Amino acid sequence: MSNNIESTLVENRVFKPAKDFAKKARIGSMAQYRKMWKESVTKPEKFFAREAADLTWQKKWTKVLEWKCPYAKWFIGGKLNVAENCLDRHLGTARANKAAIIWQGEPMGEKRTLTYAQLHREVCRFANVLKRNGVKNGDRVLIYMPMVPEAAVAMLACARIGAMHSVVFGGFSAESIKDRVLDSGAKIILTADGGFRRGAVVPLKKNVDDALTLLAGGGANPVKRVIVFKRTGQEVHIEEGRDVWWSRELEYVDADCPPALLDAETPLFILYTSGSTGKPKGILHTTGGYLLHAYMTCKYVFDLRDEDVYWCTADVGWVTGHTYMVYGPLAMGATSFMYEGAPNWPENDRFWQIIEENGVTVFYTAPTAIRAFMKWGDSWVKKHDLSSLRLLGTVGEPINPEAWMWYHRTIGGSRCPIVDTWWQTETGGHMITPLPGATPTKPGTATLPFFGVDAAVVDDAGNELGANQGGKLVIRKPWPSMLRGIWGDKARYKATYWSEYKGMYFAGDGARRDKDGNFWIVGRIDDVLNVAGHRLGTAEVESALVSHPSVAEAAVVGKPDELKGQAVVCFVTVKEGVKADRALRDALRAHVRKVIGPVATPDEVRFAGGLPKTRSGKIMRRLLKQIAAGEALKGDTTTLEDFSVVATLAAAED
Ligand code: WT7
Repeated sequence: MSNNIESTLVENRVFKPAKDFAKKARIGSMAQYRKMWKESVTKPEKFFAREAADLTWQKKWTKVLEWKCPYAKWFIGGKLNVAENCLDRHLGTARANKAAIIWQGEPMGEKRTLTYAQLHREVCRFANVLKRNGVKNGDRVLIYMPMVPEAAVAMLACARIGAMHSVVFGGFSAESIKDRVLDSGAKIILTADGGFRRGAVVPLKKNVDDALTLLAGGGANPVKRVIVFKRTGQEVHIEEGRDVWWSRELEYVDADCPPALLDAETPLFILYTSGSTGKPKGILHTTGGYLLHAYMTCKYVFDLRDEDVYWCTADVGWVTGHTYMVYGPLAMGATSFMYEGAPNWPENDRFWQIIEENGVTVFYTAPTAIRAFMKWGDSWVKKHDLSSLRLLGTVGEPINPEAWMWYHRTIGGSRCPIVDTWWQTETGGHMITPLPGATPTKPGTATLPFFGVDAAVVDDAGNELGANQGGKLVIRKPWPSMLRGIWGDKARYKATYWSEYKGMYFAGDGARRDKDGNFWIVGRIDDVLNVAGHRLGTAEVESALVSHPSVAEAAVVGKPDELKGQAVVCFVTVKEGVKADRALRDALRAHVRKVIGPVATPDEVRFAGGLPKTRSGKIMRRLLKQIAAGEALKGDTTTLEDFSVVATLAAAED
């Protein structure tokens, strides 16, 4: 929605934190924010040593930071366990019997609450199940689960024994699972018979079976064991000797599992995300720095309190679900609410009904969802009492000021501060965000950098730009939760993030700062789309398309979309003798869903006589974007090899 964030009409409206909110908040003024921020970037070792004292360390670090660009190590020599920080340390306190996770299933009336003591017990037991099944420190565990508390149990159980998890979103296909198994070398998969979504069952186990069949066909299959959680009760195939039931496994273990003593830089998880080339990148996060940042942002940005019922609507398959549904809130000892299904099931007011019923106080969702709620209309909201809410957050893409205003008024009752949080899978947690008791906000800007974040907007030569000049977003210093690499690909790590500018992290986003220093993020400037807050590489979709026997060439671009931010538009040329008709178009859509998953379903497939290329053979995406958006062609077309293809493209309707 980058076209909207420029709208100056609303940009001039400033929303100052309410006095009573500021009074109670941990950071209650801009002066306090500025002082702390300054210390955090000029004396990071001192600043973060102080903040890290809030966590439970089995052994204190000897050095806070070692920075050999592009490799950072935080809390060297320190030992801690993420699961111990999220669970054990709350047990000796009044939090032991408070709700850690409140869960609702999609079918109406299904509810579960796990107290900290109960969650601790479940995690210990499941950690013993993992051990029993041969999982050791450093092993990779692939998690392909629905949104049930057991997904969090599985993650924390891995953390407890020092195994790495790699959660794969349920909207990815069997082929995507296969690719992630091969890249990570996971030897065990945790899944479920299915999960409920919009009244239907997502066949998770079936997808895992198909992935394993594909792996067996390729001759290399590291997966020795599949543990299946019974969620839906639908019948699934159980492969003797390979597949076991979750509940059955629990019968063999006890709840005694001391947390492993882990170095602060022990890998915690790998999470795959799309890049501008075909293959998703396995983003690696480690223990100490990641946990500290998750904890600190929940403390300062979400201002979480013991009395809060906090709800992050993200799926556990995305980084938001990792940091802000599981690790951050639990490290804080907060109550994290979890919902399994769709926002419009059984009706469009499911979210508001959940907020009312559970007294949700802090609510974190995505602009794409907010736009859908707006479209469904205020009457769904008005049916419910949302007065429990005190703070709202958004993440995933730039929020258009209209959606911000609606969120503020209709959901927040004009009383709740909104934190628009800019960050990425790679950054581990919030990077640019308001602090709700301090930062004046304007609809559409993520405002100012969080502690330790030295963000800037630079030109192509790396020079910092002045107010209101558009450029590229960079981070000039290491921060505790920065990615530690791309799994198994050092060269790509350097090339992707640290080669555009010397000594700076290149985020891949375009941005500008206004005269008050606020960052206005425009969106991706690489070949990565943001579809409904999900990152999707155009190259991934293109390679899926050309793997279809009828396709000769494909180019994929994004087109502005009112609800999803961007829609996926595919330009396709077919092979000699192939009929480019509706049936083929449907087949190509289905093919992309099969190869990548429903998350990548093309919105439009347009058949073209040829693709516009430069004389050196590069596809001119700029032109395709303009055509997809129905705009008049702008800019230089003199390098175009054959102008006539543009005419055929413009005529190619979906
Ligand atoms: C990309 C990262 C971070 C969790 C969700 C997405 C875009 C994210 C914002 C925001 C403007 C945003 C950026 C970024 N993005 N939040 N508040 N304002 N843009 O994680 O899949 O790693 O995607 O999402 O383009 O680079 P991700």
